[in-house]
Amino acid sequence: MARDDISREAGRLGRRLAGLGRISDERGRLTRTFLSPAMRRANARVGRWMRAAGLAVREDAVGNLIGRSEAAGRTLLLGSHLDTVRDAGRFDGALGVLLPLSALAVLRARGARLPFAVEVLGFAEEEGVRFASAYLGSKGYCGRLAAADLARKDARGVSLRQVLGRGFRRPGAAHRRGELLGYVEAHIEQGPVLEAARRPLGVVAAIAGQTRGRIVFRGRAGHAGTTPMGLRRDALAGAAEFILAAEALARGTPGLVATVGTIAAAPGAANVIPAEAACSLDLRHARDPVRRRALRRLLGRARRIARRRRLGFGWTRTQDDAAVACDPRLTGRLARSVRAVQGGAPRLVSGAGHDAVIVSALTPAAMLFVRCRGGLSHHPDEHAAPADLEAALRALVHFLEGLAADGGR
Ligand code: GLV
Ligand code: MN
Ligand code: MN
Repeated sequence: MARDDISREAGRLGRRLAGLGRISDERGRLTRTFLSPAMRRANARVGRWMRAAGLAVREDAVGNLIGRSEAAGRTLLLGSHLDTVRDAGRFDGALGVLLPLSALAVLRARGARLPFAVEVLGFAEEEGVRFASAYLGSKGYCGRLAAADLARKDARGVSLRQVLGRGFRRPGAAHRRGELLGYVEAHIEQGPVLEAARRPLGVVAAIAGQTRGRIVFRGRAGHAGTTPMGLRRDALAGAAEFILAAEALARGTPGLVATVGTIAAAPGAANVIPAEAACSLDLRHARDPVRRRALRRLLGRARRIARRRRLGFGWTRTQDDAAVACDPRLTGRLARSVRAVQGGAPRLVSGAGHDAVIVSALTPAAMLFVRCRGGLSHHPDEHAAPADLEAALRALVHFLEGLAADGGR
């Protein structure tokens, strides 16, 4: 069968994803964090591809990459993030930035003129790796960066405000609500539902809420050889007990997921009893009351562990986002395009967070999910099949053509 314009463009999309996946802050694995040298290189590379798609390109005050095509009507936002977790796969985030560029390239080659402006967004920060708080890019774009966000420090003790430099002014929202048509974010599913349903694509009904924070247990350092077990105040042992309690609560609560992904013990020597143990907590559920109740129970449990072990205890919330429902109308339109491509449009709840959580406060948001192998994500083996990328491109082109035919309404 002859390859049509979409399958040719999907091939280029796959090559671009591979190329972008080699732009990293770390040798031998993919890691791009907020405002890092690799992020600057990624923005330069994607900026070139944006220009090739006919977009005018700029970076905003927090490093978001914005490619815009002008038209008289309102503006449709399309995008996702260009930062990654540590040792990441190459699809999470990048797909949602590059897929719209491919769709616009197809439309341009077909000579289509959209009756609305388009902004393709490469958000500078979504994963929350560097400053332990997610969505800093989309918050900047939407005028929601708080003073507390700017005061956050990275692992080297440098605050976001310091990284952004003296001339930085907290940005207002990039758009007024009435100027926008909506926001569509394409993303790999990062879970196994589409694979089990044998469908390349789905649409997102809602995104789970999440709380992230830092827990610190404080005890007393001492000699590992001479301090009897009963006389110790071992902070790391307290943290270990807490981690297992979090796991047990989540295992026993349907739909709840709890993760302790980082832990640091000080002073950090094999022969010294840990005086301090700091760990992260990431807690998610599709229903906010369940998540809030779980958080209260876990913090209560942590305090009891600390009391029994004669430890100090501290909790700092670094992120708290309610669950978000995607816009039914825009999602319905996207679902029609998915059905046109594959004959059915599964609706999923996203356990992962997405820029759509923040952007949905500014304009109606919808999300297109693309099947990924084994449901694996936040892992270097993350993979979406070329045929699934092609299906996603067909759906997005169909969506844009339909929206154009309806005059952007
Ligand atoms: C973002 O990938 C998240 O942690 O949900
Ligand atoms: Mn992502
Ligand atoms: Mn991610």
